[in-house]
Amino acid sequence: MRLRKKPWADQLVASNRDIGLNLDDVDSLPTFNCLEIGSGCGLFLINMAKKNPTSNFLGVEVAYNAFSLAIKKYVNTEDKPSNLHFINAPFEKIYPYIEKESLDYIFLNFSDPWPKKRHNKRRLTYPTNLELYYSLLKKGGKVLFKTDNDVLYEDSKEYFKEFSKFEYIFIDDYKVEENLFDEITEYESKFRSKGQSIHRIEGVKR
Ligand SMILES: C[S@@+](CC[C@H](N)C(=O)[O-])C[C@H]1O[C@@H](n2cnc3c(N)ncnc32)[C@H](O)[C@@H]1O
Repeated sequence: MRLRKKPWADQLVASNRDIGLNLDDVDSLPTFNCLEIGSGCGLFLINMAKKNPTSNFLGVEVAYNAFSLAIKKYVNTEDKPSNLHFINAPFEKIYPYIEKESLDYIFLNFSDPWPKKRHNKRRLTYPTNLELYYSLLKKGGKVLFKTDNDVLYEDSKEYFKEFSKFEYIFIDDYKVEENLFDEITEYESKFRSKGQSIHRIEGVKR
């Protein structure tokens, strides 16, 4: 979904630089142990941070408009959690600045499906990306992927099998209420309201 640039965005982002980071901040990232790649408009991480005050969360979002909407949502949140930051950058650019084996969780929520064969390598679950996540996670750390997309789910199952360094669980029809360390995302809410099944892959670093 392409979002139009919001007239208020630049000013809001500029006045919330303590929460909303950008590429200028990569070499002084805050401490975090939970990372969402493609954090979109921020709902998932704001609720995760509120409910889990002993964890620290970073959301990485490449699209400026979605990032600015996340900052707006944060600003309008009651009881703002202090254990949360967003950064407007592609994951690939911040990866080198994240300490290896420092993360407990990496969340991939409703990642772009990149359906054309020639674009499959851009998928966030592609084995070359799983290798990056593996290097960032502590032993026992988890990569958690949710999607509504059947093709991306089936292909991602193969990527996890092929990569083979994670123990994995595939859940065809995932119910969010079964898991205490999870929240609904904006995309998920849309798909669930249409009655669509949500698939989930949990990969645990051996
Ligand atoms: C389909 S949206 C899902 C947003 C949100 N996770 C949700 O479930 O509502 C995927 C988001 O991932 C972002 N994204 C895709 N590749 C990315 C990357 N390499 N680094 C950071 N963000 C990325 C896109 O800009 C988009 O906002």
